[in-house]
Amino acid sequence: MSNLSPNHFKARRAEAAKSLDKNSFLLLSSSKSLIRNNDTTFPFRQDSNFYYLTGFEEPESVLMLSSEGESTIFCRKKNPDLEKWDGYMYGIEGAKDILKFDNAYDIADITNIVPELIRGSKSIYSLVGKDNAFDNNIIGWITKANSLERHQGNIDLKNYSNALGYQRLIKGDEEVELMRNSCEIAAQAHKEVMKNVQVGMSEFDLESMYLNEFRKRGSRFPSYNPIVAGGKNACVLHYIDNNQAINDGELVLVDAGCEYGLYASDITRTYPINGKFSSEQKAIYDVVLEAHDQACEAARVGNSCLEPQRVSERAISQGLKDLGFLKESLDEILDKQLFREYYYHKIGHWIGLDVHDDCPYFLDGNEIKFEKNMAMTIEPGIYVNDSAPIDDRWKGIGIRIEDDILVTENGHENLTASVPSSADQIEELMLS
Ligand code: GLY
Ligand code: MN
Ligand code: MN
Repeated sequence: MSNLSPNHFKARRAEAAKSLDKNSFLLLSSSKSLIRNNDTTFPFRQDSNFYYLTGFEEPESVLMLSSEGESTIFCRKKNPDLEKWDGYMYGIEGAKDILKFDNAYDIADITNIVPELIRGSKSIYSLVGKDNAFDNNIIGWITKANSLERHQGNIDLKNYSNALGYQRLIKGDEEVELMRNSCEIAAQAHKEVMKNVQVGMSEFDLESMYLNEFRKRGSRFPSYNPIVAGGKNACVLHYIDNNQAINDGELVLVDAGCEYGLYASDITRTYPINGKFSSEQKAIYDVVLEAHDQACEAARVGNSCLEPQRVSERAISQGLKDLGFLKESLDEILDKQLFREYYYHKIGHWIGLDVHDDCPYFLDGNEIKFEKNMAMTIEPGIYVNDSAPIDDRWKGIGIRIEDDILVTENGHENLTASVPSSADQIEELMLS
């Protein structure tokens, strides 16, 4: 059962229904159960958009929501034989009564039922482009429905992705609570591992420690594959092999977050495996931290959601210039994006049910402005690859600092602040 009550999901459906054309329907599909290999599946994880409007965590399900707010769930029939193997199923009556849908049908009958229900309607909304097979089903149902109503106009197919993404952008108080838990579990895990690492431990050792700390604190799954990157592996942004030695004197970059109640946290800290930054490591670290702090300040009500990006580019460019990495003027560095040699990803992303929350950054061609209870990661980084046009002593240093930021009425709250971020605080924690 979801951490949230069926009434929360009912309220979200009521909100979504308001934005549909009259005499129209929204159709959403659950995730599929995914094969890992042969007959072994990955643990089931519900599609976040589907979950957001249903709270229902079974595969092979479809939600149909009418513009009048009437909800219909299509799901699997209860099957006592299958329950002996895979566990409890809500079944059709269970889903309707327990999760408070207005109607419920067997998913096996959906192809016959949907065209009848949508015939003569104005528009069908769906998350066009997210699931080709489901898109094709919808097109087939619309074609069938149109053929049943030859004397009426054709049904429009509309993309509801931005509208639902915008609804998901502003977190309800109950979502913020789950995010707080997720962030605090991940922050405590980072702290605990940082206190206990020692020279001689490998990337794999650290990964195991993080996953164990998440689980000990109530989170079964990480919210993405952790990145545990020693030395120059940190310059590979999506490094997930996590199987190399970490040498004395090297930094390790750990990007690891967990899931709690399906809400994600996403934290990166970069620290010396021996507990003490070298002068080069600290010099770059301080530039990243300055960019991080300035970008966090830019996440405030009324600012564009792209303002932290611009602020971080400026701060990192200034820092790279001060370090002597770039010789050009600040304007030229920014205009020609020369900083991208060392800072080659974006400042962050929306976070919530998905670590990269499925929410827009633009609406109707305009940058979205921060509002209270939006949540974004702030994660600037500097990475000095072997190919960089710079003295060798800097090479192989990769640093990112990432926190999860909640926009508040008067500024922001750093939900992951309990894990230290300054070089001094990190050394103090590690050497304590
Ligand atoms: N952990 C993925 C990211 O930071 O975006
Ligand atoms: Mn992130
Ligand atoms: Mn991350």
